[in-house]
Amino acid sequence: MVGGGQLARMTHQAAIALGQSLRVLSVSPDDSAALVAADVRIGTHTDLAALREFAKGCDAVTFDHEHVPTAHIAALAAEGVKIYPGADTIVYAQDKQRMRERLSELGAPVPRWRPVAEAGEIAGFAAEAGGWPVVAKAVRGGYDGRGVWMLADAAAAEELVRTGTPLIVEERVPLVRELAALVARSPFGQVAAYPVVETVQRDGICVEVLAPAPGLPEERALEAQQLAIDLANALGVVGLLAVELFETADGLVVNELAMRPHNSGHWTIEGARTSQFEQHLRAVLDYPMGETSLAAPAVVMANVLGGPDGGMSIDEHLHHLFAADPGVRVHLYGKQVRPGRKIGHVTVLGDDMTSVRARAARAARRLQEGE
Ligand SMILES: Nc1ncnc2c1ncn2[C@@H]1O[C@H](COP(=O)(O)OP(=O)(O)OP(=O)(O)O)[C@@H](O)[C@H]1O
Ligand SMILES: [Mg+2]
Repeated sequence: MVGGGQLARMTHQAAIALGQSLRVLSVSPDDSAALVAADVRIGTHTDLAALREFAKGCDAVTFDHEHVPTAHIAALAAEGVKIYPGADTIVYAQDKQRMRERLSELGAPVPRWRPVAEAGEIAGFAAEAGGWPVVAKAVRGGYDGRGVWMLADAAAAEELVRTGTPLIVEERVPLVRELAALVARSPFGQVAAYPVVETVQRDGICVEVLAPAPGLPEERALEAQQLAIDLANALGVVGLLAVELFETADGLVVNELAMRPHNSGHWTIEGARTSQFEQHLRAVLDYPMGETSLAAPAVVMANVLGGPDGGMSIDEHLHHLFAADPGVRVHLYGKQVRPGRKIGHVTVLGDDMTSVRARAARAARRLQEGE
């Protein structure tokens, strides 16, 4: 796996049970996965020579992020490396403009959008799309809400355009809530879909995932799963595809695509019969897919973000949490605590969504703040 973050760390954990050993290409020996995997190569994912050396002897190569240049992926594939998802596919998870264009071509529901180079174009778009605010997005490189700007007026648009960041602009979707549909597809073409979840974001960061999405009509859940399956097939995805969705009064709208284990699927480690990390490995290794059904009627994952500096250590917080609620499952990523940084997550399983959600939120708060 190229990239040594928490996704690689949790994929490594899943690889062990499959009798595999995950080799990791990590930028630094302190990265989440580099701290735990036995076979770690230090190097950058933009260095073709490093990628080539890294890929030697691997059964398959895949990614924990979207930042490997497609030219490098194509070069390795041409040399016979099984590398998934391929260059012509992953580009739709790397580049928001290409993603929007392709989704529009495929007839998938997308917000009104436009690529923009000048502030005047943003103002023109706002006028057509029903006024300010509009949402501007960096074409490449955004994550956790960095690279997304809610623009209130022409002055804000001008200031952003001055930074020189390549941008697209979108209408602000009047969303009721956010959903995610996660599927996996193998080179053989088998596709498996997980139950559709609700994702809750705060300040552009996912903080909670509720599985299954509470109160989602079966019809709409099937529609979301079918959309994700159709996109996985149409784009030729191998591995996981997470389709981030907006639910509106009029139906579903696609926000964006990710082609790797995704935060909206962390709940599957305990909450589904097959975790997304194992599923991703099965897919890229061309094994048959695992069962995706829920292990309990209600599953909630809550992210643990780095708390303010000072105060008790995370270890002391963990003691308190374990004493208070022995049923909570904890995953810590071995990352340096910084305010707002994703440093771990908790998962709670149960029968009743309301109480499971409260327990998960409480547990995340205990780890973050001690209370
Ligand atoms: N067109 C829109 N209308 C309303 N809200 C939006 C729109 N686009 C994005 N958002 C809000 O901003 C969040 C982040 O947007 P997006 O998923 O595009 O960015 P990202 O930084 O790539 O996210 P990620 O953390 O998933 O990588 C969304 O989850 C949603 O809450
Ligand atoms: Mg997103």
